[in-house]
Amino acid sequence: MIVGFEPRHGQRGGQMAPVSAVRGSIQGTKPDFTAAYNRKWPHAYFRAHLALDYMIPDRAEPVFERIFADYRRVRNKSRLKIIDIGCSYGVNAALLRTDLDLDDLYAAYLKASGSLSRRQEIEHRAFFRDRGLRDDIQFVGVDPSFRAVRYAKNMGLLEAGITADLETRDLTVNERCVLAGADIIISTGCVGYATERTFARVYEASATSRPWVIAFVMHPFSYDDIAAALRGFALETKVADRFRQRQRRFSTPTERQAILKAMAKLGMEDHLERTTGYIYASCYISAPSREAL
Ligand SMILES: C[S@@+](CC[C@H](N)C(=O)[O-])C[C@H]1O[C@@H](n2cnc3c(N)ncnc32)[C@H](O)[C@@H]1O
Repeated sequence: MIVGFEPRHGQRGGQMAPVSAVRGSIQGTKPDFTAAYNRKWPHAYFRAHLALDYMIPDRAEPVFERIFADYRRVRNKSRLKIIDIGCSYGVNAALLRTDLDLDDLYAAYLKASGSLSRRQEIEHRAFFRDRGLRDDIQFVGVDPSFRAVRYAKNMGLLEAGITADLETRDLTVNERCVLAGADIIISTGCVGYATERTFARVYEASATSRPWVIAFVMHPFSYDDIAAALRGFALETKVADRFRQRQRRFSTPTERQAILKAMAKLGMEDHLERTTGYIYASCYISAPSREAL
């Protein structure tokens, strides 16, 4: 059972349904972004996500910063190695390593012509380099969308990438080495695609350094199975309701209906979804219990 910071906003019921059951209940109503996930250039990804006012990486960024600061204090470390599960084109790395916000990225990628037109790889690299990429946080991405990961690596956003689907296979020895020594594992917009299988494999490979895990999980997906897997590594998971954030708009009335129905069935608090037109994401934080936040 996940411990809540502020249970009044949290899920009302006990154990939630597994991801596969939730996926089934909203299947066919959720927009399909997959065609934009694995392209050479990120433009289609940003176009599809802007259409639904996708904002979770931007909303998550100050929360990540705050928890990174806690981690630095608790562990007395300044340089951090971050693993981003479902890193895509390096969006979280771009937001956390520069002073760009998501609107800057949307504007840059969606200009008909301009600094981030499709052809100029050098221009893209310079765009991020000119924003003074911080090097006190280093990113390793995990995402089967190998073209997106390659883009993020070529731009200098990721130090390394693992382009495996860890739902279906184990890590190789080399991949395990790349994950070793991690400080914090993060994820936005990916739980549902990635389940406890991926999180357990990533954690196991980096367990020696006892990384914390921070995941934003869109409603109504459950984090119970991932929290249970992390408990196997002696991590305690808390849902931090004051860090709950907007993920994106409902794509259609049908999707809204299906998500509200699934949330009601699971006993999840749905006031914001009912009143704002946006789907929210809960923030889960896992850390060794002696370091409980
Ligand atoms: C909605 S995007 C989120 C990307 C980024 N984190 C963000 O918030 O902008 C979902 C990402 O999950 C990735 N994904 C799909 N299946 C995955 C899996 N089994 N393991 C890790 N990532 C996966 C997709 O390739 C895609 O990049």
